[in-house]
Amino acid sequence: MNTLEIRDLQVRVADEEETGILKGANLVIRAGEIHALMGPNGSGKSTLSYALMGHPRYVVTGGDILLNGESILGLAPDERARRGLFLAMQYPVAISGVTLYSFLRAAVSARRGYGQRAHESDGEHRRSPLIPGREFRQEVRAEMAKLEMDRTFLRRYLNEGFSGGEKKRAEILQLALLKPEFAILDETDSGLDIDALRIVAASVNRLQRELNMGLLIITHYQRILNYIHPDFVHIFYEGQIVKSDGAKLAKKLEAEGYDWVREQFV
Ligand SMILES: Nc1ncnc2c1ncn2[C@@H]1O[C@H](COP(=O)(O)OP(=O)(O)OP(=O)(O)O)[C@@H](O)[C@H]1O
Ligand SMILES: [Mg+2]
Repeated sequence: MNTLEIRDLQVRVADEEETGILKGANLVIRAGEIHALMGPNGSGKSTLSYALMGHPRYVVTGGDILLNGESILGLAPDERARRGLFLAMQYPVAISGVTLYSFLRAAVSARRGYGQRAHESDGEHRRSPLIPGREFRQEVRAEMAKLEMDRTFLRRYLNEGFSGGEKKRAEILQLALLKPEFAILDETDSGLDIDALRIVAASVNRLQRELNMGLLIITHYQRILNYIHPDFVHIFYEGQIVKSDGAKLAKKLEAEGYDWVREQFV
């Protein structure tokens, strides 16, 4: 069975004097499981998501990350993505000059192995580097329709001038096309209006079922968990998971905040 395992992960930020941000995080996500990760601002949730994806500024100083039993610490972010790991970022970056369409087409082509050498009976030859435009356009339009995204976004530069909610929807469009085995959604709910949250959640649920995807949903609010039902809820505090339980833990946090967590762990 596919698993994503975070083992005693310790991470610090490159060029920063301060001590580590992640101080021994442990978590196992199996295929098909939905995990919610909640925790106060600055506790290290996004740091965890960057470290999982291989962001170069987040230096792993101890522990390991295993994808299907194999360490991925030595892999670049694009190699991790090719192996089926995906991150919807809390703050998606804009890239001027690169249209959403060409960005998606390049990413999907890489994930599906276009451009790699293929062995044929008549010798080795290079496959086309990109998924055929016609085929891809059809696919991307179908996914955009499900997300109720206007097609004109394809011609715009990646995230440039996108509203907060539009950026989050574009992240989920990537998820739908890249079809990962494990996806981390870092505050995808923040910035979405009430209708958009429902639409995005429906897409995430559908994909999760179709792909039997393992999900890590980072959020501050119970609301998204009304739509995407977590099997486990974890509290992240000062660089590690300090408590795990079922969905009721999110309700307790919503009602009581984090004071009781702080009191327990000072
Ligand atoms: N690139 C960086 N440079 C300096 N400090 C950083 C960097 N990245 C993270 N930190 C620090 O590490 C701590 C954890 O940050 P992180 O973004 O992981 O928190 P978070 O749990 O995602 O918070 P939030 O709920 O506000 O999104 C914070 O104190 C933050 O300032
Ligand atoms: Mg964060």
